[in-house]
Amino acid sequence: MTHANTTDRIRIFDTSLRDGEQSPGFTMSASQKIAFAHALADLGVDVIEAGFPNSSPADFGAVQAIAREVRGASIATLARCHPGDIEACARALDDAAAPRIHVFISTSPLHRQHKLNMSREQVIEHAAMGVQLARKHVDDVEFSAEDAFRTEREFLVEVFDAAVAAGARTLNVPDTVGYATPEEIRELFRYLRANVKGADGVTFSAHCHNDLGLAVANSLAAIEGGARQVECTINGIGERAGNAALEELVMAMKVRGGWYGADTCIDTRKLLETSRLLSRITGIQVQRNKAIVGLNAFAHESGIHQHGMLKNRDTYEIMRPQDVGWPDSQLVLGRHSGRAAVADRLRQLGYVLEDEQLDQVIAGAKALTQTQHVIGDADLQRLVEGERYGPGWRISALSLTDYGQHTRAHVDLSDPDGKHLLQSAEGEGPIAAVFAALAQATGVDFELESYEVHSMGIGRDARGEANLSGRIDGETLSGQGTSRDVLEASAIAWLDVANRVLRARQAQPRVEAA
Ligand code: KIV
Ligand code: ZN
Repeated sequence: MTHANTTDRIRIFDTSLRDGEQSPGFTMSASQKIAFAHALADLGVDVIEAGFPNSSPADFGAVQAIAREVRGASIATLARCHPGDIEACARALDDAAAPRIHVFISTSPLHRQHKLNMSREQVIEHAAMGVQLARKHVDDVEFSAEDAFRTEREFLVEVFDAAVAAGARTLNVPDTVGYATPEEIRELFRYLRANVKGADGVTFSAHCHNDLGLAVANSLAAIEGGARQVECTINGIGERAGNAALEELVMAMKVRGGWYGADTCIDTRKLLETSRLLSRITGIQVQRNKAIVGLNAFAHESGIHQHGMLKNRDTYEIMRPQDVGWPDSQLVLGRHSGRAAVADRLRQLGYVLEDEQLDQVIAGAKALTQTQHVIGDADLQRLVEGERYGPGWRISALSLTDYGQHTRAHVDLSDPDGKHLLQSAEGEGPIAAVFAALAQATGVDFELESYEVHSMGIGRDARGEANLSGRIDGETLSGQGTSRDVLEASAIAWLDVANRVLRARQAQPRVEAA
């Protein structure tokens, strides 16, 4: 479906290091901020909002270092319309090749009365003063009307008129509390472009929050209304429910360019690695079903979908995984998979089976899904080669003793034949100690690629679900465990992986029975 006849270039203003970094759980050290700023420049963002220099000496130092080192994008810093904030921005940006000062003041009646205690006239005076002062230091000044969406329209026009007259080049329209709907935002941008004096000489920018889950939709609607800059963050991090997710916005413009008539300069093949870098830095993973960068974004488990994918990828995919940095789509063999996907994977592994043999392998795979989440290549090989499938090692007992800085874990593993493995090991903290004991008991060791625990159910019925993945013998294997005890859930998930490795290796674990 097309809608637009031309393609306009949309500037991507990334605020992961400011709006994102100031939200709970996403604080970064100076060196992490610098590393991430380099990644954003490599990704191709137009503007990196590096921080709020007057908020702390640490933020000042990080912004200064980014301004010194990072090239290829403008470096923006945030300031209230206060001389102290603006001067701190100017000093921090001294060495930047393309510095931008971003000044803001609240404009909505709620904020004017309860936050600023200012009249409309005072707000306009402060806005003009802030922009003028910033222009004494740099040419590139952005002005934001905080809570713009809940501001009286005619007053918003007056504030923006004053900011343009004072020298602002970009007018940012934040939906600070994520209250807008796409139709309203589209209309607001059209209204501002028609009514602000000098609108043709400035760039209108959208800054949408995700409190109603509409941040990306609202940013796209703002583009339809005339915005030519969008403010966003990697993985959608930001205050409360976050900001518009950069990866989603950029791919919406790329995939639906015919509709929006808009595109960006982002190197989309770097989206996944940038998202993962942020997760590694902050320790917070995106949800599995997150668009573009979540583990399920290009994974298919249901038989009907897998069958469609094998015939023609376009049946269930609207973009190529490689275009955003994934190696390929994944047909996950699990409880919902069908014959076509199992047969296809077996063919890729070099097995061409008769119908009857294929039936047996499929029945074995289905049985396996009762006890494990996904079927890996190693499992299929075992099934084809007619090996007896056993459930492997299980946790019989698990306990901890605390030795100050270090924790010692004691595990007792059993198998269906009644064999036991007892092992103790130390680690920095309970999880590390349990994983070390399991590694020593089974002789299987792997580096964790991801590890997450969340709660399933509520109140007394709540159980912990642990999901982890690790790379071993050239394959990434995932494991899952559930238990009322999160430590035990984690141990079960770890063993889920180890049991598959052991089956694949046809090796007996090293027995060190006590
Ligand atoms: O959400 C908001 O209003 C902001 C401004 C400071 C741009 O982050
Ligand atoms: Zn914001």
